[in-house]
Amino acid sequence: MLAVRLVVCERRSLRSTPGRLCIMGCHELRRDSSGDRNVPRITFVHFDGARETHGAHVGDTVMDCALDNSVRGIKAQCGGGCTCSTCHCYVESPWFEQLPPPISDEQDMLEFVWERRDNSRLSCQVFVDDDLDGIVVHIPEMQA
Ligand code: FES
Repeated sequence: MLAVRLVVCERRSLRSTPGRLCIMGCHELRRDSSGDRNVPRITFVHFDGARETHGAHVGDTVMDCALDNSVRGIKAQCGGGCTCSTCHCYVESPWFEQLPPPISDEQDMLEFVWERRDNSRLSCQVFVDDDLDGIVVHIPEMQA
């Protein structure tokens, strides 16, 4: 008899089979509850130099990963609606160059971030895929 192991869809608290889309289609489940499957990793570097690395779901944003793991400094007050700019981060090379250019809403909001740099992005607009595995993002000293 084939045993099918179910895991909880961490994003929507639903159940599905590992390796398939969750039943809401929100993202592919790539990690079981033991966390031992390969997932894209994101390293957050704080202003004081402290670093923390977390696994992320493909299709989620860097902001989602930060909130899921209580990464300090990513406030995300609008919850990813691209209307607050409090999820500002600096994306290291070579990942920055791999990202699609910001949409006009993100470009507009980047005008309001604290200490904008050439590699500034809103983490709620950076979507995780396998090619971004290992991405390093720096969190600014403060958010606007
Ligand atoms: S969370 Fe508000 S702009 Fe990103």
